[in-house]
Amino acid sequence: MKEAARQARAEGHLIGFVPTMGALHEGHLSLVRRAKQECTRVYSSLFVNPKQFGPNEDFAKYPRALESDCARFDQLKVDAVFAPTLEEIYPSGFSTYVTVEGLSDRLEGRSRPGHFRGVSTVVLKLFAIVQPDFAYLGRKDAQQVAVLQKMVRDLNLSMQIVVCPIVREADGLALSSRNAYLNAHERRAALVLHRSLEAARAELIAGTRDSLEIQNAMRAVFEKEPLARLDYAAVVSADTFEPSVHVGGASYVLVAAHFGKTRLLDNMLVEPARADSSELDFHL
Ligand code: PAJ
Repeated sequence: MKEAARQARAEGHLIGFVPTMGALHEGHLSLVRRAKQECTRVYSSLFVNPKQFGPNEDFAKYPRALESDCARFDQLKVDAVFAPTLEEIYPSGFSTYVTVEGLSDRLEGRSRPGHFRGVSTVVLKLFAIVQPDFAYLGRKDAQQVAVLQKMVRDLNLSMQIVVCPIVREADGLALSSRNAYLNAHERRAALVLHRSLEAARAELIAGTRDSLEIQNAMRAVFEKEPLARLDYAAVVSADTFEPSVHVGGASYVLVAAHFGKTRLLDNMLVEPARADSSELDFHL
């Protein structure tokens, strides 16, 4: 991978990189399509990173589909797929970790201690191997994007992160490799994530700016769905991921919940429509 990327760089190619854990769906593929539009070489990785899973999480049963994933990357004319073994990425004696402090401890980080340390460590390694001009990430994992953008800034990496919109099923459920775990009842219940974001949007459209009120509206939606166990419903500043008391500037409305053994996330980006107005734009 290093050699292929080095040669492409020497030939003057603009390199796009799409890191994934595989079990590909349209969300992943949307990142590849965007990269293909903007870059002359596109590389992707398939690596289920053990260091971002907690001890009681789903590392062992995370879906793996190397062959069909490679076929899908092939169809989209990805120039190379990097699918390293565990030993290649973490040879025995591996002992260097990257932690984006502060940002990594909130929300997802609080529910999944060590998760973002695992993400930033593996992604920095992948960035070091590929040295892309652009890395394409999904807004589906908004806090992950914020952590990695901070890492790129703090460590002066010569690349940019491109954030791509959330791809959803027709009924609103955000695509996720983990949706495959859901039984039919849980699949129906999981729509509560999207519904709670719509409730937040309705509050904001009605003029509510108080975060607690917005969160309460979201909780009320969850209370009507017995198969869901809410982890958090939060409103944060889009830059810092600090909780906002009042929705002023660009913000994320974030939600995480359990459906049986499956934990799913969703979010909505809220931005002032124009610098000089109190009107808001909503990106689900
Ligand atoms: P994974 O969950 O496989 O996701 C790979 C990329 O696809 C991430 O940038 C994620 O945000 C994006 N993605 C997932 N679902 C999406 C959807 N419905 N719409 C748009 N984009 C979506 O995220 C990871 O892997 C890992 O943490 C990784 C960055 C590869 C590091 O191990």
